Amino acid sequence: MYRLPRPKLVAEFAIFFLFATALIQIALYLTTCGYSVYQISAPKPSLMVEISDNAKLYETRTAVDEKIEVNSLSGDVVAADAHETSTTQLKAKRNYTLSSSGLHERKRNLSINIDQTIANNDPLQNISKPYFSIIKDVKFEINRTYFRPRPKRMSSIPSSFPISSGTVCRPDSPDILFVIPSVATSQAAIERLEIRKTWASGLYGPTWRQTSSARLAFFFGSSGLNAKKMLVLREESLRYGDIVTGDFHDSYQNLSLKMVTIVTWVARHCPSVKAAIKIDMDTYVNVKLLLSLIDQLPKTHSNYVFGHMHAWQNPSVVRSGGWAVPESLYPFNKFPRYIYGHSYVISGPAIKAMSDLFPSFPIVPNEDAFITGIVTNVLNITRFHHDSFAYLLEKRTLCDMIRGVHVTAVMKKENRIKLWDAFNNGTCLKDIL
Ligand SMILES: *[C@@H]1O[C@H](CO)[C@@H](O)[C@H](O)[C@H]1NC(C)=O
Ligand SMILES: *[C@@H]1O[C@H](CO)[C@@H](O)[C@H](O)[C@H]1NC(C)=O
Ligand SMILES: *[C@@H]1O[C@H](CO)[C@@H](O)[C@H](O)[C@H]1NC(C)=O
Ligand SMILES: *[C@@H]1O[C@H](CO)[C@@H](O)[C@H](O)[C@H]1NC(C)=O
Ligand SMILES: *[C@@H]1O[C@H](CO)[C@@H](O)[C@H](O)[C@H]1NC(C)=O
Ligand SMILES: *[C@@H]1O[C@H](CO)[C@@H](O)[C@H](O)[C@H]1NC(C)=O
Ligand SMILES: *[C@@H]1O[C@H](CO)[C@@H](O)[C@H](O)[C@H]1NC(C)=O
Repeated sequence: MYRLPRPKLVAEFAIFFLFATALIQIALYLTTCGYSVYQISAPKPSLMVEISDNAKLYETRTAVDEKIEVNSLSGDVVAADAHETSTTQLKAKRNYTLSSSGLHERKRNLSINIDQTIANNDPLQNISKPYFSIIKDVKFEINRTYFRPRPKRMSSIPSSFPISSGTVCRPDSPDILFVIPSVATSQAAIERLEIRKTWASGLYGPTWRQTSSARLAFFFGSSGLNAKKMLVLREESLRYGDIVTGDFHDSYQNLSLKMVTIVTWVARHCPSVKAAIKIDMDTYVNVKLLLSLIDQLPKTHSNYVFGHMHAWQNPSVVRSGGWAVPESLYPFNKFPRYIYGHSYVISGPAIKAMSDLFPSFPIVPNEDAFITGIVTNVLNITRFHHDSFAYLLEKRTLCDMIRGVHVTAVMKKENRIKLWDAFNNGTCLKDIL
């Protein structure tokens, strides 16, 4: 059963309640007296406390070495040694005591005790800050003659799904759906089983049913598959309930069409998901960490994709070889900045908008550039970046994956089970993934 937001929510609510009570008292104090200063003393650093309130912090320093730091939602320091701070959500890196003093006779100290365990259990404690940044195109002009929905239907999108596993989104919908493009080979079948038994095991119930708020499905193109392969997939679907096949020819060059089909299936069969997370077969996921990181995104941007942005500002378009992009489909020499395809999140509203767009837009090969660079620009979908998502060019160790430094990482096949074991026994292996 996957129920992770619970303890954190409860804890946060408790803290929020304590702060809210304290702040209401202060607010009452302020309104009755007109003016006041209260003191924030921060004896020792280290604890991360989240305050969700329209709080105003006034501070008077009592000791020279005392310092209060207030971080915004995005992790930026909005006030250090601040005398007045007002933000909608504040994060203070302290266990602190509020006390009112100053011009008034009615002095009182408001203390808030923060349970040490809350801070130590913060799954994001080793994740780099800020928790996201917004990707902007640099030196790339969006030509609206191209980057717009076309008046006529021009792409044919698979609309029949010969296998469409019943339990993934029925009878109830998950909040989060992991979508993994896979292939109908025996090697890939072994790897799917490994995935179910390792990083994704928390998503499955005892009889492989998925009933929790995060679930997973594997996707295939089934046109051209022989009867034997279809039978194997049907059996796998009966057993694990996590197989979806679309009516298209599965091939390397059709990866964009595959993702288009996946997004279309999700929009149709899982319309109330908050987000779908695309994961490649060779990518390892720290599920708890990834879901916590997604929670940090600002609620003001509901249409988004989230992942690791391409290292190059202006990725070049390849015109020959396996990844060739015909000029007829994409006439420019550069792509907008896009997100690496190993792992990225698409929000529910963005899934809906994309599936509405696909029939009236060319399907450009290069799945990641297409979905996270081109389509996002046509639909004005926000692109969020965080470097803890998989990035092939960076050497990552098993240890860093276990320590919660990365939400996803590309790995060698043989490391999947090794990593899972190390996760469970807490061993910090220095091997490269
Ligand atoms: C508030 O805390 C300060 C510092 O610990 C202490 O000196 C003061 O007496 C306290 N005031 C009240 C009203 O408890
Ligand atoms: C923070 O609060 C906890 C729980 O009340 C306490 O154990 C800890 O000593 C405090 N830390 C500091 C730096 O005051
Ligand atoms: C925009 O792109 C179209 C092709 O889609 C091209 O014909 C046109 O010249 C471009 N406009 C500019 C200003 O580059
Ligand atoms: C992509 O899939 C379509 C639809 O099944 C098929 O007609 C086409 O031949 C495929 N292209 C490649 C390169 O496999
Ligand atoms: C995206 O933004 C551009 C420029 O502001 C606008 O012309 C276009 O209509 C928008 N597209 C959508 C789908 O909202
Ligand atoms: C963060 O790193 C420290 C030091 O390696 C480790 O002890 C701690 O468990 C890590 N935190 C999480 C949430 O994994
Ligand atoms: C923990 O798992 C790792 C990776 O499989 C393994 O190398 C190590 O021996 C295990 N340690 C213990 C104490 O089981």
